[in-house]
Amino acid sequence: MNAPDRPIADPEPHVMHTYGRLPMAMSHGRGCWVWDTEGNKYLDGLAGIAVNTLGHAHPRLVPALQEQVAKLIHCSNYYAAPLQETLAAKLCELSGLTRVFFCNSGLEANEAALKIARKFGHDKGIDAPEVIVYERAFHGRSLATLSATGNPKVQAGFGPLVQGFVRVPLNDVDAIEAVAKTNANVAAVFLEVIQGEGGIHPATVDYLRAVRRICDERGWLLMLDEVQCGIGRTGKWFAHQWADIHPDVMPLAKGLGSGVPIGAVVCGPRAAKVLQPGNHGTTFGGNALAMRAGIETLRIVEEERLLENATTVGAALRAGLARELAGVAGVVEVRGRGLMIGIELNRPCGDLLLQAAKAGLLLSVTADRVIRLVPPLILTLDEAEQVVAILAPLIRSFLQSPAQP
Ligand SMILES: Cc1ncc(COP(=O)(O)O)c(C=O)c1O
Repeated sequence: MNAPDRPIADPEPHVMHTYGRLPMAMSHGRGCWVWDTEGNKYLDGLAGIAVNTLGHAHPRLVPALQEQVAKLIHCSNYYAAPLQETLAAKLCELSGLTRVFFCNSGLEANEAALKIARKFGHDKGIDAPEVIVYERAFHGRSLATLSATGNPKVQAGFGPLVQGFVRVPLNDVDAIEAVAKTNANVAAVFLEVIQGEGGIHPATVDYLRAVRRICDERGWLLMLDEVQCGIGRTGKWFAHQWADIHPDVMPLAKGLGSGVPIGAVVCGPRAAKVLQPGNHGTTFGGNALAMRAGIETLRIVEEERLLENATTVGAALRAGLARELAGVAGVVEVRGRGLMIGIELNRPCGDLLLQAAKAGLLLSVTADRVIRLVPPLILTLDEAEQVVAILAPLIRSFLQSPAQP
């Protein structure tokens, strides 16, 4: 690989600097592979941050989107939207829930969920409804969703934060029971089934079931943010299905459109009618192109048995990493489910991002010291072996180098 080092001159003088970008620019992709503008080839262990469910240029998705673009991209929510109904019906069938609101991103889906929680509380006569949220959570970067997020770095500089959140640690039933006993204003509990940005921390099956029980006892909404862990990534359509429970509200985004921007809030009977005409809306939400992308994504995931693939290839990838990193000092844990994998090191490892890219592998580092792999669900066993073959030696040599102060 001949990927360039960090450039000295600013290559994007007109783009607002809200991201710490690597120096390579991606040109095109096919399957689990991406090429940059210099012709360097990368194995995509990131999938646009858990977005490119079907990889790049999927031979069935591309013609479907081309046909849709030529037919209708957008025409507003003034009119009946059959493609919205088709996608909503499929999401309801897969989740066992009842109604869907469509928007354009993860934070928008979460913002809608928070509005549902507030209105649900008000409808029950709670003047100042509160939502239980979690340490290390990430729900987005709008004012409400960054306030729900449990990361001071995301919140710094944006106070005053939105009020109405009570924060608890994940997987601690006593902590949430304690809130239940003392706080009559709670309307909902809001958590990621597997915390993604927080470092790939799963809620345990027992915890999810306990929270479902508490929500039922108290009449609270259980709102599960499946923006990152949903749409087959863990080997089930939705990660909470491993616990055999149903949420009342489930925000989705990322993988649902295989790269076309989309968000959805899927609601069960308790929450499906909380928002009434005039309570919420978005210009682009539910547009024909995004709906078609969602419909085709779910169809292809189903027909190509990608849930099974995520389970099998994910298990092989985790096993390969565990094998190659066994006994390596500085590797804290390899964890995750399906194709949502975290490798926690005992030190910040952001430098691995560029090192991995130079070695031909795209990945991300989250929560400072967790290497995150969220590849397309079409990853093959052979490609999983290639991920291990590139990544394990990089981690070993990174951990042998002196730790940065
Ligand atoms: C669990 C979760 N919720 C919400 C979001 C925000 O999604 P978006 O970036 O589409 O606004 C993310 C993004 O990483 C996420 O991981």
